[in-house]
Amino acid sequence: MSIRNRFPIFKKQVYLNSCSQGALSIDVKEAYKTYLKDWDKKGSPWELWVERGEAARQAFTGLVNAEPNEVAVCTSVSAGVSALASALDFSGERNKIVVDDFSFPGVAQVWHAQERRGARVTHVPAAGNIIPTERFADAIDERTKLVSITHICYRNGSRADVPAIVELAHQKGALVMLDSYQALGTFPIDVKDLKVDFLTGGVLKYLLASAGLAFLYVRKELIPKLYPTTLGWFSQENIFAMDIYANAPSPTARRFESGTPPIPNIYAALAGIKLIQSVGLLKIEAHLQDITGAIKEGAMRRGFSLVSPVDPARHVALITLRSHKVDMLVKRLEEDGVITSSRDDNLRISPHIYNNLADVNRLIDCLTQHRELLV
Ligand SMILES: Cc1ncc(COP(=O)(O)O)c(C=O)c1O
Repeated sequence: MSIRNRFPIFKKQVYLNSCSQGALSIDVKEAYKTYLKDWDKKGSPWELWVERGEAARQAFTGLVNAEPNEVAVCTSVSAGVSALASALDFSGERNKIVVDDFSFPGVAQVWHAQERRGARVTHVPAAGNIIPTERFADAIDERTKLVSITHICYRNGSRADVPAIVELAHQKGALVMLDSYQALGTFPIDVKDLKVDFLTGGVLKYLLASAGLAFLYVRKELIPKLYPTTLGWFSQENIFAMDIYANAPSPTARRFESGTPPIPNIYAALAGIKLIQSVGLLKIEAHLQDITGAIKEGAMRRGFSLVSPVDPARHVALITLRSHKVDMLVKRLEEDGVITSSRDDNLRISPHIYNNLADVNRLIDCLTQHRELLV
């Protein structure tokens, strides 16, 4: 069966909203059924469920070329970043957090929450649809504890020059956290190549699964020095020690985990990630170049205003167009059977491996019909 045929939504609609939520595959639907079957048949198969959680850890490990001990399985990016933030010390001279202006709110809000603990947050402003790397250079100094980078901006699709920013940060002795939520599942990511200290992301979007599962990568050398205060019994060295008199964190990145894992979401995540792996990230990246190239070309030929960078090196899957009535445009497209979404005044068009050039033609035809809503 072709990959597209595994997503029943394409029988009736053109789905172009993977930046918000990946389309539902028969595989993920089946995974939920299997979860219920296991529960029904086996009662409370916690050994199996804990093993599924470890399989999710392995899957995340493989996705970013980490080691299993470097990955914490979390329920959201916000939860992972909160646990990380709680482990950082802002009481000394090095108390500055540099946050880019393309950050997802949940992430930036966690950093601002650290102001009560002594942190000073500095933002790196955008210049139009990109954040020039020099602006990071202006913001990062010897007092910077951590630089928080957004791999791909959820609002306009802009891609950060991660290696250059990491180098700037490390030169000044700062740590780097990369939010790769909008990047995971669209191209290969390697934490060792990127030299990031922390990386986070979840499964809801291009990893083709559902809400409630994310992860935090923590570079192994840093783990023994970091003691999260946002935690739970699954963060303990021995989960079943049931010790109410002490906190004994796991020696691995599991110390950043929390309470009972979200088992149903783990089943779904394993199915979604398996689909991605069955195609391969290099192939997905090449496919997205073709599809987004056609979207940009079609939009520009008709004079629509592109918000995403035109340069394919500065975006991946998410293409955005300026609209002066974006909510209405999303609604009109939905009535036409084309599913998109919006942020700010931007129409977000986010294809994935399941889209084809016929989808692009249909989108461009529909946009042409509603051109009065575009800028
Ligand atoms: C870049 C980015 N980070 C984080 C999130 C969400 O994180 P959480 O798992 O905390 O909801 C999103 C969701 O849209 C996102 O686009």
